[in-house]
Amino acid sequence: MERWIVFGVCCWCWLAASAQALESVFGAYNLELEFPSPQERQRALRDGLYDPGSVIPIDVDVYYKHGDATPSIFVTIPRFAKGVPYSLAYVTNEMRPNGTLLQAYPSYEWHKSHGADCNGLTSVYRTQIDECGRMWILDSGEIDFIQHCPPQLYAIDLESGKVAHQYKMPKRLYKEGVSRFVTPTVELDPHNCDVGFVYMADSIGDGIVVYDVAAQQSWRIENKFTYPHPDFGTFTIAGESFQLWDGTVSTTLTPHGLGGRRMMYFHSLSSEWQMAIPLDVVNNGSNWRLNDVSAALDQFQLLGKRGSQCVAAAMSESGFLICGLVQPASLLAWNIRTGYSHQNLVMLVEDEQRLQFASGLKIVRNHEGKEELWVLSNRLQKAFGAGLDYKEINFRIQKCGVQELLSGRPCN
Ligand SMILES: *[C@@H]1O[C@H](CO)[C@@H](O)[C@H](O)[C@H]1NC(C)=O
Ligand SMILES: *[C@@H]1O[C@H](CO)[C@@H](O)[C@H](O)[C@H]1NC(C)=O
Repeated sequence: MERWIVFGVCCWCWLAASAQALESVFGAYNLELEFPSPQERQRALRDGLYDPGSVIPIDVDVYYKHGDATPSIFVTIPRFAKGVPYSLAYVTNEMRPNGTLLQAYPSYEWHKSHGADCNGLTSVYRTQIDECGRMWILDSGEIDFIQHCPPQLYAIDLESGKVAHQYKMPKRLYKEGVSRFVTPTVELDPHNCDVGFVYMADSIGDGIVVYDVAAQQSWRIENKFTYPHPDFGTFTIAGESFQLWDGTVSTTLTPHGLGGRRMMYFHSLSSEWQMAIPLDVVNNGSNWRLNDVSAALDQFQLLGKRGSQCVAAAMSESGFLICGLVQPASLLAWNIRTGYSHQNLVMLVEDEQRLQFASGLKIVRNHEGKEELWVLSNRLQKAFGAGLDYKEINFRIQKCGVQELLSGRPCN
C-alpha cells in the first residue's frame, strides 16, 4: 500500500503511477479462429459468416481449475455485425502468424446458427465465472441491431461443460432491436450457488435488469442515471475519435466484510458520472415498477465525476474499484472508503500503446487464492473508425496481481 501513502495526497496523481507495466499474456495482429474443417471455414467465408475484419474481442475471462497454475483463458467476440463465426472462445496453445489460435466455446455448434436457433448463443459481450466454477454468459440475442432471439443468460459448468442454468428474458424487460445486454455481474450465496442475483447492464437500452436466480424473476431499473451524457459521447483515444452513445455498461458490488450497507456501483459508458445505490434497494423487486423512471430515485447517489469515460470495471476484495479509463488510456483506481474526487482517483498504469480501449476487465482468484487483474484491450477507436492496421498488435490480454498493482510493485 506504499503508493497510497506517498501519492495519496497529491492532486492529479496520474503521472506518478505510470511507470508500472502489466504482464503481457496474449497479443494478436488479428484473431486466428479455428474451424471444424477447412471446408467449413471456406463456407463461412463464402456465405459472409466469416469476415476477418469483423472479429473484435471485447472481454476476457479466466478460470483456474483447482490447484492448476495454468488457467483457461476465454474471450468474447460480439456480433456487432455479420461475419463473426463464433462469439465466445478460448485461447489454445497453438501459435499462428496473427496470434494464438482461438477455439469456439462451448463448441462451434453453439454459435453456428447465427441467430436462427435461440438455444444456441447469438452474441456475447461479456461473461463472469462464479465461485462454483460456472461461466455465466450474457447473450444479447441480437446481431447488428436485429433481435433474433430474446436476451438470455446461461450458466455453464466449466468442468463438465453442462448447462447449469438458462434464463430467457421476458419481453417486458428489454427493448427489441434496441437493447444490448453487455455485462453480467453475478453474486451468489457462498453456501449455495443456485441462490443469488445477476445484474445485467443494457448499454444501448440504458438500464439494468436484475435477475433473482432462485426465484427466476427479474425486474428492470431505468432512469436518468442509467443513461449516457451528451458531453461524453465522443471518445478520443491516441488522437483518434469515434462516437459511442451507450448507457449503463458496468455494475460492481461492495465486497463482503467491509461493514456498513452494501452498495452497487454503476456507470454509463458515455458519461463521466460514477453512481451508487444501496444493494438491498436493487435486490427488492417491489421497488421497481415497470416504466417508472421515478422509482426509488431518491436512493441513487452521484458519487462524483471523473472527467473521462470508464469502460469495464472490477472490485477488489479490499475495496478498490478499478476501471479502464479512456483518456488517458489507463487503469484508474478508487478506494471506496474515500470520496470520489480527483485526489482519491489514482492512475495505476497509463499506457497509450498497450491499453487502447480496455473493454474487458476482471479480478479473479488464481490457484493460490491470490487476486489477479486481467484486462483485454482492442483498439476499438480504429475498428470503429479508420480501420485496424494489421501490422500492429491490436488485441492484448495483460494481467497483474492486484496487491502488486495497488502498491506499485512489479507485476511478475
Ligand atoms: C492476418 O490477418 C490479416 C488481417 O485479417 C489477414 O489479411 C492475413 O491474411 C492474416 N494472415 C494470416 C497468415 O492468416
Ligand atoms: C421491499 O420494498 C418495499 C417497498 O417498495 C418494502 O415495503 C418492503 O419491506 C421491502 N422488503 C424488504 C425485504 O426489504
